[in-house]
Parts: sequence; structure tokens; C-alpha cells
Amino acid sequence: MKIVHAASELYPYMKTGGLADAVGALVTTFAGNGHQVSAFLPGYRDALSHPAAAGAERKFKLKIEMGDQFVSGDVVAFSPQKNLTIYLICRDEYFDRKRPYGNGERDYEDNAERFIFFCKAVVETMRLADLGADIVHGHDWQAALLPLLLREAERRFGVTLAMKTVFTIHNIAYQGLFPAGSFAKTNLPDEMFTMDGLEYYGQVNFLKGGILFADRLTTVSPRYAKEIQSPEFGCGLEGVVQTRVDDLSGILNGIDTAVWNPATDPLIPSRYSAADLSGKLGCRRELLRQSGLDPAYTGPVFGMICRLTEQKGIDLLLANADFFKTRDCRLIVLGAGDKRMEQQLQKLAADAPAKVFVCSKLDEPMSHLIEAGGDFFVMPSLFEPCGLNQMYSQAYGTVPIVSRVGGLVDTVRDADEDREGGTGLMCEPNAASLRDALERALILYADKPRLAAVQRRGMARDFSWAASAAAYEALYQEAL
Ligand code: ADP
Ligand code: GLC
Repeated sequence: MKIVHAASELYPYMKTGGLADAVGALVTTFAGNGHQVSAFLPGYRDALSHPAAAGAERKFKLKIEMGDQFVSGDVVAFSPQKNLTIYLICRDEYFDRKRPYGNGERDYEDNAERFIFFCKAVVETMRLADLGADIVHGHDWQAALLPLLLREAERRFGVTLAMKTVFTIHNIAYQGLFPAGSFAKTNLPDEMFTMDGLEYYGQVNFLKGGILFADRLTTVSPRYAKEIQSPEFGCGLEGVVQTRVDDLSGILNGIDTAVWNPATDPLIPSRYSAADLSGKLGCRRELLRQSGLDPAYTGPVFGMICRLTEQKGIDLLLANADFFKTRDCRLIVLGAGDKRMEQQLQKLAADAPAKVFVCSKLDEPMSHLIEAGGDFFVMPSLFEPCGLNQMYSQAYGTVPIVSRVGGLVDTVRDADEDREGGTGLMCEPNAASLRDALERALILYADKPRLAAVQRRGMARDFSWAASAAAYEALYQEAL
């Protein structure tokens, strides 16, 4: 098949979270399976300076209609592997920035314009390059206007650019909600700015467009596919999702085992496998050393890696600060984002400097070291469309402690409830239930044979992309 993907993040060129990992793994897997894959990403500063993009060629000059103006752009392309072409949509005014969505304090004010431009540029490049796509697959709100803009361009130019469109919701909490005035920049007909279109309580809602107008709709776990039909998790779009249930499927993400495998990981000091876990000890020592903690410590080490946002349950962790201060354990947190959460975590570290370390930045090598060197991985999310770290943790023999929401339910089994098959510990998304799970972790840690069995079961689980990619391929075929 000829498959086009478009997203605002793509590992390894731009990443702030799991979206990048998921789309990156999907496109490489499809290319490996022999499909012809084109992946579109904004030409961010970091993406353009990535070593793989060094040989990128300028392909097209664009003139994109944005309201009553024409805005220029460039398309550069390179091929990092057979069957895969990465197209970077460049316009320095929009994308030559350090971060993709905001300055760290707040979102950029021109985000509507930036991502309308991106979607239009993808459509225009598909036309100029004559890609003749079977499937165009967009991800999250930044690419959500693609199905609609694509059909509009086809109507205008009297051509077929794609047979079918697919849209994946990686997180319904981010919708791309903008003032009504932004609609003009889409150049879509006025009837698209109504209740049955992009209008949402007087504003423009990009995500709603993706949900309504893609031929097929997917999200990243079966459980989340159900959850987003309810007011509790639908973030106001549950009614819109309900209108598409017949075309909605939940396909679990996989993990990229070329990047996340303790037996081959170049970012950890000693490698190991389920057959021989001894290398994990070297990772633990290095993790403690790099965290400024005593490397000889032998008690339980809890790790956490996440964007600091409400979603990730940082407040539930903070509500259990006394656990980490008073119990015999260590806590290492890698997370950047919300300033208030960052400060509160740093305060916890300052209160217990010999026990808690908090690293407030994006650090890819450190994230691998935490997965490898920790005993437990804490992930008490309030909601979690899929979640990748609980899968990385199982692959690395690090027992995940997760809340019973979204993809976490689909990927972890509680070791106290399921003595023969459990691979982690589960709690409800509240502080008391998390406390209970943390206490159970200490009990599990004290029982070394049982701990080893839980670790080995986690490591034996197959989270590779093969199954997910096959599910997407089947969905594409069915749509076609
Ligand atoms: P989400 O996409 O909601 O952020 P996921 O669990 O799907 O959650 O994916 C998060 C990804 O981002 C993981 O690969 C994780 O290791 C990575 N990550 C999050 N925060 C950091 C950080 N501060 N440094 C390095 N990697 C991080
Ligand atoms: C989103 C979700 C996360 C998911 C990721 C990749 O960022 O928050 O749960 O794993 O997308 O699909």
C-alpha cells in the first residue's frame, strides 16, 4: 500500500511524548513490511539539524492559501530507510523554534495558523509529488484537519489524492481549540463552521474535525476507545465520538524493540535479559550514582518518567511524599513541564536529599537508565490513552505500579490479584489507593523469588509492534 502519515512528532526527529514513539515505530514497521511510506513532520529546528536529515533535498516550493493571503514554504525530504520518505514542511517563521508547541510557559499564539499551514502543506505536497496514496493517516489535533482539507482540495482540483483517510486520537484532552476567527485561515466553506463541523461552543475545534471526517477513527488502546465515549474521559467530545462508534477501533500501541530492549540498549551501562538479570545491578548502581544517591544502596528504587501534567498523577505521588521520606526506599523522577509540579517535586527532593532525586529536563539517556536501573516504575495516571513506559518497564524487568485507566488496564495485570500471571501492581487513581500499592511494592520487594517471577513474566510479554501494525494493516485493507 501507499501510506501517508502526518504528525507533529516523529521519533527520532522531534519528541515530547509517546506520540513521537508511536508514529516513529509505525512508519518504520510499515516500511519494513514493504509498504511505501511517506511521513510528514513540521520542519522544526531540531528535526532539520538531526544527522539523518543532513542529506535532505529541497523538493518543492509551496504557496499556501491562508485566509486572504498566500504564505510560502519549502518541502525537504530524505529517506532514512528503504520504502520510507520523511517530508519536512518548512517555514522558519512557524517552525524554526526550540519547542514544538509553546515556550514552556504557555502555548504559542499562532498555533492554529501553524498547524492549518502544516495540514494544507501536506495536502499540497501530496498533490505536487503525485503520491497517489491509498491511505492518509493523521495523528492528534495538529493533523486533524487533514481529512477535511484533503477532500476539499480534491474537490477544488478535481483529482483523487487519497483513497481513504484514517485518524488516530492519541489523547482526547488536547483538542486544538481556538477562537472562531482562526476558521478563516482554513479557507473551508462556511457550512463547515457549524455544529456538524468544526464549531465547538463558538470556537474552532480541530480534533472534532478529525473525529467527524476521517473514514476510520482509531485510538491507542481498546479500553480508551470505550472510555472516550463517556463524559468522564471524553473531555466534552464524547457525544461526537459516539456518532462514530461504528468506525472506531482501539489498537494498542507497541514498543519499538530496536530502541527499548535491555539486551541491546546502547544507552545503558550493562545489558541483560530475562535469562540473566545480573546486568540490571550495574544499571542500578549507575542510576543511583548519576542521581547523586548512594550507589551501594540495596533497598527498593522507584522510578518515574513523564511530562509534568495533571494527566500523569504527579499530585497523587506528592500526596504520598511522606512514604518516600520515611520508608526505606529511593525515588528518582525525570520530568519536565508544569512549573508548580516541578517546584513541588524539587521541594520533596530538597527535604530528603539522600532518598529522592528529581531531574527536571528532557533526557533520553536518563530515561533508559531509569527503566533499566529501577525496581518499580510509578505511573498513577488519572487517564492514559495507552502509555508506553509501563510497557518499557515490563520489558526492562522493572515492575510497573499503575492506575486502572486506559491502556494501563490493557497492558498490566496486578501481581497480588493474579498470583500466577501478574506483571505489576495496580491502584485506583487516588492517593490512598496509590499508597496501598506502594506498600504492596515493599512487601513484594522483600520476597525476592516472587519479585523475580513477576519481573520475568513482564519481560516475557510481547509488546512488539508486529501485532499493532498487523491490526492497522487489516484496518487499512478493510477501509479500502
Ligand atoms: P505521553 O505520550 O502521554 O507523554 P507515554 O507513556 O505514551 O506518555 O510516552 C511518554 C514518552 O516520553 C516515553 O517514551 C517517555 O520515556 C518519554 N518521556 C517523558 N518525559 C521524559 C523526559 N523528561 N525525558 C525523557 N523522556 C521522557
Ligand atoms: C499520548 C498519550 C499516551 C500514548 C501516546 C502514544 O501522548 O497520552 O497515553 O501512549 O499518546 O499513543
